[in-house]
Amino acid sequence: MLARELRCPTNSEKAMRYKCSAKEEAQMSPDALNSGRKFSVAPMMDWTDRHCRYLHRQLTQCALLFTEMVTAPAIIHGDRERLLGFDQIEHPVAVQLGGSDPAELAEATRICDDWGYDEINLNVGCPSDRVKSGRFGACLMAEPALVADLVRAMKQATEKPVTVKCRIGIDDQDSERDFNVFADAMVEAGADALYVHARKAWLQGLSPKENRDIPPLDYPRVYRLAGRMKPYPVYINGGIANLDEALAHLRHVDGVMLGRAAYHDPRLLADVDARIFGQPARAFALAELARSMAAYAEKHLAQGGRLNHITRHMLGLGNGLPGARRFRQILSVDAVRDGAGPEIIDNAFAALDTAALAVA
Ligand SMILES: Cc1cc2nc3c(=O)[nH]c(=O)nc-3n(C[C@H](O)[C@H](O)[C@H](O)COP(=O)(O)O)c2cc1C
Repeated sequence: MLARELRCPTNSEKAMRYKCSAKEEAQMSPDALNSGRKFSVAPMMDWTDRHCRYLHRQLTQCALLFTEMVTAPAIIHGDRERLLGFDQIEHPVAVQLGGSDPAELAEATRICDDWGYDEINLNVGCPSDRVKSGRFGACLMAEPALVADLVRAMKQATEKPVTVKCRIGIDDQDSERDFNVFADAMVEAGADALYVHARKAWLQGLSPKENRDIPPLDYPRVYRLAGRMKPYPVYINGGIANLDEALAHLRHVDGVMLGRAAYHDPRLLADVDARIFGQPARAFALAELARSMAAYAEKHLAQGGRLNHITRHMLGLGNGLPGARRFRQILSVDAVRDGAGPEIIDNAFAALDTAALAVA
């Protein structure tokens, strides 16, 4: 069966499949995972935490979801439940690791495998100062041989797919030849796929935020890589604003990864299963989403969590609908008040024009 013909599991099927946390139970089939990568939501620090992923999973059953980057030393020495805990409904979910020490990354990979992640991804694209000082992230693109060692060490630690997220270049090391040398080294080391943010990173002089906007996008370079490497999976990322653009990219690459657009306008995810994965279109009502997020919030609060851990990721849900301003206000102001409960979520959705509630 072709990967694209696979039916995405429903939330209840996932709950059944993953209810036992045993390693074998938690493993996605390679076909299902390949299929899921056709559309993924990018790793984003402080944004794609477990609550954000839970929300996104209510909107799309098929897309692959990424964690925020977690450093290998933090996983080895830190609070694993806080750093790695996730809801089984989030599958398929990839964890992104940061690091530059093969033994540490191997150890972190083993731990993430045991936690049931479906894919382990190495961050070779993040240009922040904090990350650079630890010698990981985008600066590693200057050292393909070292990154290849990291990938090999990770591969030896797991049978799950090990993938790499990178840029098309850094600083003056930004020729297509440099990029191809890097990509070839990843493939040779056994990386199962490449996610490419289609712009270079300037490690000096630009802030991480500027590095996500200022260096120009070069999609054709990623298309050429995908063409040259076929059938090796290459996924494109950077500046993709909507599903029309995603579909246009899919004519050239195996998958698309969306970051900011998916976060700021999460309702676009409600069309992903039908438009990207060819699943039967399903009328998705925001009322249903309100109910499931309120129930999720109730559980989180009962465990000592705060409501705004969840509601802060929901602010974009009302965008473009009458009442969106009030919706955002309730979720950002009322939700941080002492004693705020799940009824805040009901109140916020009630502020949206009900005639506009049907998304699909
Ligand atoms: C707030 C924020 C945090 C990010 N954190 C990470 C990260 O932890 N790891 C990573 O590889 N990329 C990170 N990125 C980059 C995104 O994964 C993505 O490559 C970038 O935003 C370009 O895609 P987009 O234009 O679709 O947003 C982050 C981006 C944002 C906006």
